[in-house]
Amino acid sequence: MPETRVLLKNAEDPELRTLAGYKRYGGYATLEKAYREMEADEVLKELEDSDLRGRGGAGFSMGKKASFLPRGKMEKYLCCNADESEPGAFKDRELMQRNPHQLIEGIAIAALAADAGHAFIFIRGEYALQADILDAAVAEAYGDGYLGENILGTHRSVELVVHRGAGAYICGEETALLDALEGKRGNPRLKPPFPAVQGLYGGPTLINNVETLSNVPRIVAHGAEWFRGFGTEQSPGTKVVSVSGCVTRPGNFEVELGVPTRELIYDLAGGPGEGREVKAFYPGGSSSPVLTADDLDCPYTFEDMAKAGSMLGSGSIIVADDRVSIPRMALRTARFYHHESCGKCTPCREGTNWTVKMLERVVRGEATPMDLDIVASVQDNIIGNCLCVLGDSMAMPVGAMMRKFREEFERAIAASGSSLDKVGGIAAMQGAPQTIGGSR
Ligand SMILES: Cc1cc2nc3c(=O)[nH]c(=O)nc-3n(C[C@H](O)[C@H](O)[C@H](O)COP(=O)(O)O)c2cc1C
Ligand code: SF4
Repeated sequence: MPETRVLLKNAEDPELRTLAGYKRYGGYATLEKAYREMEADEVLKELEDSDLRGRGGAGFSMGKKASFLPRGKMEKYLCCNADESEPGAFKDRELMQRNPHQLIEGIAIAALAADAGHAFIFIRGEYALQADILDAAVAEAYGDGYLGENILGTHRSVELVVHRGAGAYICGEETALLDALEGKRGNPRLKPPFPAVQGLYGGPTLINNVETLSNVPRIVAHGAEWFRGFGTEQSPGTKVVSVSGCVTRPGNFEVELGVPTRELIYDLAGGPGEGREVKAFYPGGSSSPVLTADDLDCPYTFEDMAKAGSMLGSGSIIVADDRVSIPRMALRTARFYHHESCGKCTPCREGTNWTVKMLERVVRGEATPMDLDIVASVQDNIIGNCLCVLGDSMAMPVGAMMRKFREEFERAIAASGSSLDKVGGIAAMQGAPQTIGGSR
């Protein structure tokens, strides 16, 4: 199956990352058109009509979100979320590294639509190379009048700052990102108010993912109808999908939304090694409920992934083949979210810690069957009860693994000959409250 390269078109040309290279392929022509020939509302309408859905996780309509920002003279902001810290996700890295001007042009046009005068790219600290590339590209864009005061001689101005994060996954959550940008510890805020109403420095703020904003120039250049010609009715466009784990050709692949997941995993990423089979896969990053080999023919769209009981999320597939131990995979997932929990709310802080401890016992062969029921019920009690989605991001995949591969968890216990009254079982945990939530 061939890729459908729109965002990654010409990405193999190393010159694309320079202003001259980008302009050779028609770069910044759309910004000129938008700033010189279009009203802000026309640009916004095109984005709304395109039904472009956010590529950072939640899949919310980008144009609709931009339309929520109030009009008026107050200072408004645009933040590009380039934190990309979810295990399995590495598509934004490639988009920024190979085509930084596409993103900058998208930001400047989206800022026009949202009437934002200040924009930021919040990039994860570990992406030092990509941040350097962006810094150089932003300087070039300022130099040619595509950013700054009176863009291309118009009365519109947009200042763009590249801000490097300090390495916390939670800073990718949009309100924690705002706190981090303001110089505080990156903790999620209570919503509402939503950032579109009260965001950065208290002003209305549009927050979008790198890939979402990288789509903007072509939508405005060719029109919403053209964009909707790709993908499905509810999931229009192409998607850059990161495929990793047990596949022979891991990488980023750009496809039309709606292709069968099997083609992404087998045709593009090479599938698992010879003689191996897909056992499970996360379809949308490590926070998405795992699917099994039975779901391989599921079309890769927001709606079909939801129907299958999972989500498209950031568009990152992680494949586990038949050699992978699901209890160990669940433990690894839980450890990540436990480590990254900001600790602000109890279900996430305590629930992730509990889950890690219990799964460690499962993997060490010290758990009892009742422990499995407790781990599963802890997941149910986390979901929907946290301040932000990080708690759910552990509970959803771990819960799905326990439901779909229960026998494997039971086998891990049976192999060690556990019983309900075994020393170190749940009864011992209950008698030792200091082991609960005390490891941070
Ligand atoms: C714990 C957590 C981490 C997140 N990390 C990212 C991230 O690295 N990049 C991203 O674009 N969105 C991330 N999100 C989603 C953002 O909160 C937000 O929905 C997104 O940036 C909106 O952009 P979009 O509408 O273009 O998808 C994260 C959410 C949570 C709860
Ligand atoms: S869910 Fe977790 S990461 Fe989010 S606010 Fe609560 S403790 Fe912090």
